[in-house]
Amino acid sequence: MDKILIKCEKLDDFGRGIGFYNGKVVFVFNFLPSEEAYVKIVLEKKKFLEGEVLEFLKVSPDRVEGRCPYEKDGCSLKHLKYEKALEYKENKVKNILAKFAGLNSGVRKIVPSPKVWGYRNKVTLKVHGKVGYYKNGTHDFVPIDKYYLANEKINEVISVLNNEDLSEVSEITIKAYDEVMIIIKGRMDIKDLTLVCDSIYMNDELVYGKKFVLASILDCKFYVLKDAFFQVNKEMTEKLYSKVLDSLPKDSNKKVLDLYCGTGTIGIFLSKYFKEVIGIEINEDAIESANMNKVLNEADNVKFILGDVSSKLEFLRGYQADIAVVDPPRAGLGKRCVLDILRINPEMIVYVSCDPVTLARDLKFMEDSYEVLEVTPFDMFPQTYHVESVVVLKRKA
Ligand SMILES: C[S@@+](CC[C@H](N)C(=O)[O-])C[C@H]1O[C@@H](n2cnc3c(N)ncnc32)[C@H](O)[C@@H]1O
Repeated sequence: MDKILIKCEKLDDFGRGIGFYNGKVVFVFNFLPSEEAYVKIVLEKKKFLEGEVLEFLKVSPDRVEGRCPYEKDGCSLKHLKYEKALEYKENKVKNILAKFAGLNSGVRKIVPSPKVWGYRNKVTLKVHGKVGYYKNGTHDFVPIDKYYLANEKINEVISVLNNEDLSEVSEITIKAYDEVMIIIKGRMDIKDLTLVCDSIYMNDELVYGKKFVLASILDCKFYVLKDAFFQVNKEMTEKLYSKVLDSLPKDSNKKVLDLYCGTGTIGIFLSKYFKEVIGIEINEDAIESANMNKVLNEADNVKFILGDVSSKLEFLRGYQADIAVVDPPRAGLGKRCVLDILRINPEMIVYVSCDPVTLARDLKFMEDSYEVLEVTPFDMFPQTYHVESVVVLKRKA
């Protein structure tokens, strides 16, 4: 099959255009609804095809020239006007929750990101002499001079790196909050890098500066260790945490569980308004950070537990929490964890989700005991198909 003519009917949940050819669905990168194009097929499966645009015959009025020139990177929506990308994400949350959780109302307007480029405070780069990335689903390396989604501090480090001998380096992660950490896989001379960062790890060993770096969110400060998770879009994290707080009745008699607590950010932020907070987290660097953050923010009513949420909730059997805030990874809570939370029976649950599909599955598990009061999508990751949601649930009478 040389080239085929395809019309884009709609976008799929991964931001790819969907068209049809001989009764088969065709997924096409960088293709918007109403557009028509000659498409080259790059993957042929029994039930579907994947293609790349060779030549546009009709272009959507919603198409914009992306600021970032790189192809097949993570920015699957960079060619779509921002307000249309927001509409797409809001509808995606609505459709998935309706389809898999039977939820037909309650989804609010999506919260836009103040920065649509330059918002990321963490990136991981592949290295082959220069820093770069692998094209989606391939090992085709593309060198880069600038990472358009990343903040200025990260791009300053990239400029320095690209003037260094990187022949013995395979991967570099840069975390750039109030302070900057560089994590190198491989070996290199770090003299020039020390001018643009506060901490350098090489092959898991601290070789320069601080063991942790500082980040601020709202009126709190947080230490972040090398392997700890930290939210990537500061401005949106501030909006999201404020939403969590605003969704809850402030009551100094109430006890809060902060499940999947990372470096303790949500629990510490909430701790001023409640009697006590218990955070649970599986990553050791995150819990070590959380324990330092508790002291840094003088949050004496907060306690952190290292371990798997489900196992630790079983251990906490009989504990009376009034509120549970859960913020799991993309895999969501899963049935076992939902049952553990239902056993604790908090009067409110706030579910922070980065995947509407696993969110919908978990809401279905909860539907007999909890009512969804509202769902607010957040555009935490502009230019990508990803969308975050905050769901407020109330125990049924
Ligand atoms: C999306 S992050 C949220 C972190 C934190 N709430 C925040 O806002 O920064 C999810 C966290 O869950 C942790 N995690 C993953 N699986 C876990 C499990 N089974 N039990 C406890 N924590 C887990 C990860 O290490 C990560 O820190």
